[in-house]
Amino acid sequence: MANGKESGSAAPPLLDLTIDNITPNTIRINSQARDARLKYVMARLVSHLHDFARETRLSTDEWMAGLNFLIACGKICSDVRNEFILLSDVLGLSLLVDSINHPKPPLGTEGSVLGPFHTHDAPTLPNGASMTSDPEGEPMLALCTVRDTQGRPVPGVKIDIWETDSSGHYDVQHADRSAPSERAVLVSDDDGRFWFQGIKPVSYPIPHDGPVGKLLQLLNRHCWRPAHVHFMFEKEGWDHLITALYIRGDPYETSDAVFGVKKSLVIDLGKVDADTAAKYGVQEGSWLLKHDFVLTTQEETEKLRDQNAVEALKKLGLHNLKLVDHLPVPDVD
Ligand code: BEZ
Ligand code: FE
Repeated sequence: MANGKESGSAAPPLLDLTIDNITPNTIRINSQARDARLKYVMARLVSHLHDFARETRLSTDEWMAGLNFLIACGKICSDVRNEFILLSDVLGLSLLVDSINHPKPPLGTEGSVLGPFHTHDAPTLPNGASMTSDPEGEPMLALCTVRDTQGRPVPGVKIDIWETDSSGHYDVQHADRSAPSERAVLVSDDDGRFWFQGIKPVSYPIPHDGPVGKLLQLLNRHCWRPAHVHFMFEKEGWDHLITALYIRGDPYETSDAVFGVKKSLVIDLGKVDADTAAKYGVQEGSWLLKHDFVLTTQEETEKLRDQNAVEALKKLGLHNLKLVDHLPVPDVD
């Protein structure tokens, strides 16, 4: 029963609420929730939201402008566009959530933002195949490996790869898309290797014709991402890795609109020599991307996540919490 009286919990009398007592009272009424994690998350959300209004002396006009902004985000969403994810990206929240949930030991490949352009219809291709259908793109051969933190090859990893065409658009951004392009799914071989042909990535703007684009303009921020290729690694028992490799020297390398670049993910492209060209059946002088990815096991990641959580909560002065399913909740027993 949602009603406090019937469930027997003591709902506070909600009378004469003020700037000072609205917060504990809202938290108290929400505390009737049976799910301890929901109760905790809502308490922290209300506390931060109310403090935000008190600290900024939020005006009625600003409050309404914020709500209208969220309405505009909702209105522009469709099956192929999620303005709320974009908002989370430009506010740095996506990167923050990924970093909390997928911490890496020093050797592990770091994560990066997923972005809105991953699809589930990429063709599964054999190693060495080409995933490009862009004649304007500069050909690039990618030779990669997947290893564990001990340096051992990890075979049988499903690797989803996607990038834009040479005009800086993902296939789904073309209204006449008839088939997936510039994307593929590969599987690492017995030596942990995977390799494919694509094109040299280019920098491109994130979708900026909606409310998030307007917000960036007001903030005097640009909407560009540096050139990159996305990679997603999946194998049972291993931490799901969503990452990207960024090409060194890009004008947006240190000002990515969605905060996805990490030093360890910035790489130099080389050129394919004659032997490599003959071995992989590509043009000598094409671009060459070489990279060794390092996956962490689910166990390694969970241990690190718990350790980080305990340390972070201590630093934030949040005591009397315990971890349940790796997530903090109040320790009330
Ligand atoms: C992307 O890299 O595809 C992307 C990431 C975040 C927002 C928009 C695009
Ligand atoms: Fe991208």
